[in-house]
Amino acid sequence: MGIPSEQNIVLTGFMGVGKTTVGRALAALLQRRFVDTDAVIVERATKSIPAIFRENGEAAFRAMERSISLELAGQTKLVIATGGGLVIDPVNRQALQETGFLVCLDAPPQLIEARLAHSAERPLAGNWHERYDARRTAYAELPVHVDVSDKSPQNIAQEIIALWQHSM
Ligand code: S3P
Repeated sequence: MGIPSEQNIVLTGFMGVGKTTVGRALAALLQRRFVDTDAVIVERATKSIPAIFRENGEAAFRAMERSISLELAGQTKLVIATGGGLVIDPVNRQALQETGFLVCLDAPPQLIEARLAHSAERPLAGNWHERYDARRTAYAELPVHVDVSDKSPQNIAQEIIALWQHSM
């Protein structure tokens, strides 16, 4: 592990919990570079996530997540927002945890439902309950959690910074 102040901060959690929005707020507060793994995938594939799922399949998408995880784990001082399924792969989780402070954002199902209702960019939004149930244990096993209910992205970012500082 690098020295703690150089640690990446890595956000995970289910679709719709606000990883990207909170990640941007966090990066601004810490004056760090922000990386969104879904955005990197879209840029590299030169197509949208629904198009990747449709034309290349979920396995191809997961392979891209794997290579980006290993790449980002080799860098420092980043704030990283991951796609909701990325840390479900233990290889990704371990790599990112080795050089980063991993935080799982939690939201109650009603909030997720509301946020995913009009999501055209999420191929898995339709049957999210299934994924939610299947991943519940994996998320629960992560050591650091922040509940996002009734908090602004700014407040959530501050809470993450406090937890991170406390962990050093
Ligand atoms: C996914 C979550 C999405 C995106 C893709 C698959 C998942 O990211 O990576 O649609 O498997 O949970 P968000 O968590 O940012 O919605």
